[in-house]
Formats: sequence, C-alpha cells, structure tokens
Amino acid sequence: MKISIAGTGYVGLTSGVCFAAIGNEVCCYDIDEDKIQTLKQGRIPIYEPGLKELLEKNKVKFTTDVKEAIDFGDVIFIGVGTPSRADGSVNLDYVDAVAEAIGKNIQSYKVIVNKSTVPVGTAERVSNIIKKHYNGEFDVVSNPEFLREGCAVNDFLKPDRVVLGCSSEKAKNIMLETYKNMPEGCMMVTDPKSSELIKYASNTFLAFCISYVNGLVQKYPNKDVNELTKYFKEKLNKKGFFSVGIGYGGSCFPKDVREFASFCGKQNNNSEVFKEIIDINEKQKLIFLDKIEKGTVALLGLAFKPNTDDVREAPSLAMAKELLKKGCKVKACDPAATEEAKKVVSDIEYCNNAYETVKDADAVILVTEWDEFKELDLEKVKNLMKGNLFFDGKNVFDKLEEFEYYDVGRGSIKFTDEEKEQEVKAFLNRCKDFADNIKDVCSGVGANAEEVLKGMMLDGRIGRNMFP
Ligand code: UDX
Repeated sequence: MKISIAGTGYVGLTSGVCFAAIGNEVCCYDIDEDKIQTLKQGRIPIYEPGLKELLEKNKVKFTTDVKEAIDFGDVIFIGVGTPSRADGSVNLDYVDAVAEAIGKNIQSYKVIVNKSTVPVGTAERVSNIIKKHYNGEFDVVSNPEFLREGCAVNDFLKPDRVVLGCSSEKAKNIMLETYKNMPEGCMMVTDPKSSELIKYASNTFLAFCISYVNGLVQKYPNKDVNELTKYFKEKLNKKGFFSVGIGYGGSCFPKDVREFASFCGKQNNNSEVFKEIIDINEKQKLIFLDKIEKGTVALLGLAFKPNTDDVREAPSLAMAKELLKKGCKVKACDPAATEEAKKVVSDIEYCNNAYETVKDADAVILVTEWDEFKELDLEKVKNLMKGNLFFDGKNVFDKLEEFEYYDVGRGSIKFTDEEKEQEVKAFLNRCKDFADNIKDVCSGVGANAEEVLKGMMLDGRIGRNMFP
C-alpha cells in the first residue's frame, strides 16, 4: 500500500521505516524542518537500535509538506505525540491538528489510522473533525502501537499482536493488506473502542504487575520478595512483569495509567486501584533516599531503562530532584541519555563515564541496568569513592561485601511455600478485580470486554493464566 505517517518520533518514525521494510511505499511527514532535514540525510534523530540500518535498506520519503503527505497515502497514520497535560489528561492538540489538515486536503477515499496512544473514543473524534471539512467517503481505524523503546524495530516486525479497530469491511481489508507480510496469527480485528481500550488496559496491567511486586517490597521490607517473584514467574508467566526495582518510568506507563485511571473514574468512580499503582511507584523511586543524608551522590544511569535515551518520568530524575532538596551534590552519567537529561535537569554534574561519576562520591546508586554498569570494576569504584554506600536499584549485583550495600526486595526472611501459594492467590484475585473493572467500564462506553481481555492476553507478558 501507499502509506503516509504524520509524526516522526519514537512511534511514527519506527513505524514508517518498518512499514517500508514489509513492502509498503512510505512517506513520513513532520512539522519539524530540522528533524526532516536530518532524516533526509539518512540520520536518525532518536536513539533506537537497528533503525538507522533498516532505513538504509528501505526507501522512505520525508516531507514537511502536509498536503503532499495527505495526497501520497491511501492509508494515513497519525503518529504524533499525545503527552499528558498538567491535570493528567491526554493532550490531543497534535492529533486534532493532523485530523484538521486531513479534512482540508483529502480528495478521495482514504483510511486514517490512529497509531498514537489515544483515549477511548478518539477514532470518533478524528472522524468528526474530518467531516467538518469533507463530506466524501473515508474510514478511521484504531491501530495502537505496542513498541518498547530500545527494541521497537523487533517489536514491530515480530509482534505478539497487531490490533486493528475497524468500523468497515473496506477499511479492514485495506489494513490487512497493509500488514500482509506480518507473522502468521498475530492480527486481531475488533471495533475501534475496544482497540483503543486494549492499549490502555494492557499498559495499565503491566504497570499494575510492577507496582504489585514493588508494593510487596514496601509491605515486607525484610522478606525476600525477589525470590517470591521467581515463583510468580514459574507459576504464572516467565515473561511476566514481576522484576522488583526502583519502579517504572518512560513516556508510556505513567501517562497511560493516569489516563486509564481518569477514564475509569469517569465511568464507574473506580480509580482507587490505579492511584495505588502510581503511589507505590512514586514511593519506590525514592526507597534508598532515607539512607542518604548529605554529601555527594553518584547516579549510574539516567534513562528510564537501558538501550534508550529517553528520560521521561525516569526514576533518576525523581531521585536527583529529591537529593538536591536534601542539599546533596549529584553527579550522573548515562551511555545515551545525558543530552536528554540536560534538557530537564541542569544543576547536577554530568560525567562522561561511571568512574568519573563515582570519584569522591559518598554514595553510588545504580539506577539504570545498562550493560556497561554490569561490568564495572567494583574494586576500582571502591577506591575512587570517598564513602562506601552502594545502592543497587535493579539488583544487578549479588550482595556486595566490600560496600555498605543495599538492593531491592532481597531481604533475609524467606516466604514459606504456603505463603508463596497465598501470595499467588492474592495476586490472581487482584487480576480478577482488574478484569471485572474492564467488563464494567466496557459496558459504559460500548466496547467489548471479551475482546479487550483477549487483546490484553495476546501480550506474551500478560498471557491467559493471569485471567483464568
Ligand atoms: C511499554 C510497553 O512495554 C509497550 O508494550 C508499550 O507499547 C509502550 O510502553 P516501554 O515503556 O518502552 O514499553 O518500556 P518497557 O520495557 O515496557 O518498561 C517499562 C518500565 O517498566 C521500565 O522503566 C522498566 O524498567 C520497568 N520494568 C519493566 C520493571 O520495573 N519491572 C519489570 O518487570 C519490567
């Protein structure tokens, strides 16, 4: 198919290049001249492993001319940013602007696709905006992205699922043609609202799993929750999101949980469980800080996870802010995210590598589990430091004897086998509550709960056994 993509960020650019790689003709559009110039020179303005190489092998047209982009594609993907507003709601201004431009420039039938993460009902919203300017035939489809930053190319080309929310057979057939070379059995076709809800419910559930196990760490600070999570993975899902740590960050989970909480709150006043996910996570980011008084603190890692330069809502930023408030001096380094961090935090000392960062530090916090930090020469770290506090935010190391070492959720008291069974049952009860809430809100908006749960369970990290 001939495809146009509005927005060349983490989602739009990766999708555009990958659509070309699976045999489509692609035109990527952005309002940002500099970004488009960079792309025209074959350079990638974001850190996404493998994307540059894929672009070199596949022809993609780049333009800042919205009319050219709208004329080009039979299918037009909206892949622009949908950031949180201050009140936690989703800012749809960029989506609306693209819909407006489509309405003003569309001359014939096209399929317009919401690829960005958008609230339930946005397919209808986009359709209404287009109808204000155009009374010809078109369809709007929901096709949420399930791309993890740092492995987005792999996630696009080898997905657990491609979810299509279509309201006509014609649009469905065009979308199946667009995705024709995808792996067998990964396509799921449903209605637009169920598709929109699958995205929020999936991300919120994944964040729920992380906060659930981190909540157990907060509840049982002296117990070996880390070992219990191995039991969860064994009994429920080895790919489950049950790794304890200093909490989740990124541009997706925090934003999607806030939006889902607000959506459910409007439907059935049930936003408490989602508030708990957020509260546990915010507290988890700072669990080490009550052990740090004054002095110099070295943060190893700024990105919200390895293999990305993205620092949005990263635990590192929450820690830096709190440490500065305590009057600490903060030094930090990251293999990829320093430039992004500099845009949001100025009063910390950015270093070029781990050893420069830990020099003269009273405390070191391993924040992001980059491979570089896993291979640290710990003897050298100890000799460079002034103090000997070492906080391992992602349990990268085994108990380090040569430091006053702290990790996450690896207390000395073991859960008994019976207690482990109880904890799994308690978790599954919460999963049932989650599913019941989905059924409740779906009836409120005319989405299909069975389809939403089915779409969630196609995610290998969720799977059927969470919702028996
Ligand atoms: C996520 C979803 O995985 C993806 O499907 C969706 O399309 C976009 O949002 P992303 O935010 O890029 O992707 O990162 P992901 O790899 O899912 O990790 C999210 C956060 O959870 C990271 O901060 C990570 O450190 C944390 N995490 C993950 C845990 O704390 N524990 C885990 O077990 C897994």
